[in-house]
Amino acid sequence: MQVKSFEEYQQVYRKSVEQPEQFWEDIANNFLWKKKWDKVLDWNFKEPRIEWFKGAKLNITENCLDRHLEKNGDTPAIIWEPNDPHEDHRILTYQQLHDKVCQFANVLKNNGAKKGDRICIYMPMVPELAIAVLACARIGAIHSVVFGGFSAQSIADRIKDAECNIVITADGSFRGTKEVPLKSIIDDALVQCQSVQKVIVLTRSHTPVSMIKGRDVWWEDEIKKVETQRNMECPAEEMDAEDMLFILYTSGSTGKPKGVVHTCGGYMVYTGYTFSNAFQYQPGEVYFCTADIGWITGHSYIAYGPLTQGATSVMFEGIPTWPNAGRLWDIVEKYKVNILYTAPTAIRSLMSFGDDVVKGKDFSSLTKLGSVGEPLNEEAWHWFDEKIGKGNCPIVDTWWQTETGGFMISPIANVTPLKPGYATLPLPGVQPLLVDENGKEIAGNGVSGNLCIKFPWPGMLRTTYGDHERCRTTYFATYPNLYFTGDGCLRDEDGYYRITGRVDDVLNVSGHRIGTAEVENAINMHSSVVESAVVGYPHDIKGQGVYAFVVCPNLHDDSELTKKDIMMSVSRIIGAIARPDKIQFVSGLPKTRSGKIMRRILRKIAEGDTANLGDTSTLLDPAVVEEIKAGAL
Ligand code: WTA
Repeated sequence: MQVKSFEEYQQVYRKSVEQPEQFWEDIANNFLWKKKWDKVLDWNFKEPRIEWFKGAKLNITENCLDRHLEKNGDTPAIIWEPNDPHEDHRILTYQQLHDKVCQFANVLKNNGAKKGDRICIYMPMVPELAIAVLACARIGAIHSVVFGGFSAQSIADRIKDAECNIVITADGSFRGTKEVPLKSIIDDALVQCQSVQKVIVLTRSHTPVSMIKGRDVWWEDEIKKVETQRNMECPAEEMDAEDMLFILYTSGSTGKPKGVVHTCGGYMVYTGYTFSNAFQYQPGEVYFCTADIGWITGHSYIAYGPLTQGATSVMFEGIPTWPNAGRLWDIVEKYKVNILYTAPTAIRSLMSFGDDVVKGKDFSSLTKLGSVGEPLNEEAWHWFDEKIGKGNCPIVDTWWQTETGGFMISPIANVTPLKPGYATLPLPGVQPLLVDENGKEIAGNGVSGNLCIKFPWPGMLRTTYGDHERCRTTYFATYPNLYFTGDGCLRDEDGYYRITGRVDDVLNVSGHRIGTAEVENAINMHSSVVESAVVGYPHDIKGQGVYAFVVCPNLHDDSELTKKDIMMSVSRIIGAIARPDKIQFVSGLPKTRSGKIMRRILRKIAEGDTANLGDTSTLLDPAVVEEIKAGAL
């Protein structure tokens, strides 16, 4: 599945465009199927309907686990580094991971789980999180992992949307010096959720919890019931290639987060292929992805992709800055990490601590570096290259999305010539296209436009859970017959792609996607707030910060307190990741005569670019702009 030279890449790329079905069929033949497909691809972007490997049968966990046992059962699958560096690390070989997944799959069955059920997972970054995810896939249940930083309300929204019947959680989690009471947050969420019958609780932090009779059970007690050798086996449910594998909620420009749906066959082929090819993974290499399994990066490139390739992954529970800003580098040294895949926000944050934290660390094991989540600016690119890669490691800047399932535009390590700040070229099988506002293709090089994809790839989303129309309108209706990514993009003179950021109302804060509408809704829940408008502004470390313009008519001397209250509301309603960095109270928002908020103007003010606000004459009340400008933070 790996191309070995740039010439080969160009050849393979051409073939993948000319004969996409043949190309993907050859790739798919590298995986283990219970039955092969009748048809490689059936599609239209109008409905949309996308079916890959139709008629094929498989279970993704056989590809992630069983398949490696005979030759590589003793190879470490997961090396787990705890939050506290003084606590012992754990290693799970492929055989051990297989046994634990089967065992927990039997626990799920004992607790009433069946194929097709939706199971919510809200857990810390411990091996049991990977085990829970894989155990769901083993029995054909659909997992919906919710990142451990989301609030009770966000969890409740997601559980209700998917009608989950089981929740898997832990008593609490450790993040640096913080302890997050996960079970107690779940209890708050479940007050609203009638569908949940069982809550399985792992012991991690020994945070006190209340267990509800008949509903809540301990992970460890349930495991005791299946401790026999027989229970180390659990037949892998036979799944259709197009059966749902998981739902993962992500923010869009309007309304509540939507449940992006990925299916078993295409997602497996796509994550396995892209992982193997882009990182040029070789047996024995130690790979460390610093993401959380609660995000797509963790799903595709901690859980599924690397495991299909029999890779050894480091999984880290804590945060890069605790006990100090050298933590990631200590982990690289401790496990002799070869491939490090992280995010621009982490790189910039660690950069800001100066060179002392990298001094004296042994980076000699590193051969390849990767980045994901937001544009990797040139300064950070060079720092990563020089200080961490010592000028010897390719930087694989992978552009992709929750919806794409896996890497789309990305260098192939040691194959694609690099350019700082560029995601470089599309991987084989990916057909990007730039369009103008009217959907007209912008051909040629040295151009910018909105980034679309014109042909399906196996890892793409199939629908948004419970609302196919929303999937159609969000991704396939803006430009007919194209998948619209929501990103702006530059294609330079060499045909290289540089992603310039979202062109819709989605913010990217520390690599986390946040909808401005979601934040506004949360702010507007505060009793003193009449209305609000949220935009992003450039932030040295986070990439983007959250700037809120808030109309609060009855403020007196308590504005600082009200700001804090509003921030607290957002944390409670969505989660701390969405908390505004800046709140400016204003007497009104700039609106057009039809009542539409002119975000363009607010964005400029938030960016500090007030010299050229463009035409404000169509505004209902142009004076308000002067006031906002004067009070800008
Ligand atoms: C942004 C994360 C520039 C982009 C895998 C995209 C990037 C959104 C890059 C998806 C990159 C991701 N360079 N921008 N290498 N990778 N993005 O769904 O705006 O959390 O649309 O998926 O992150 O974020 P998501």
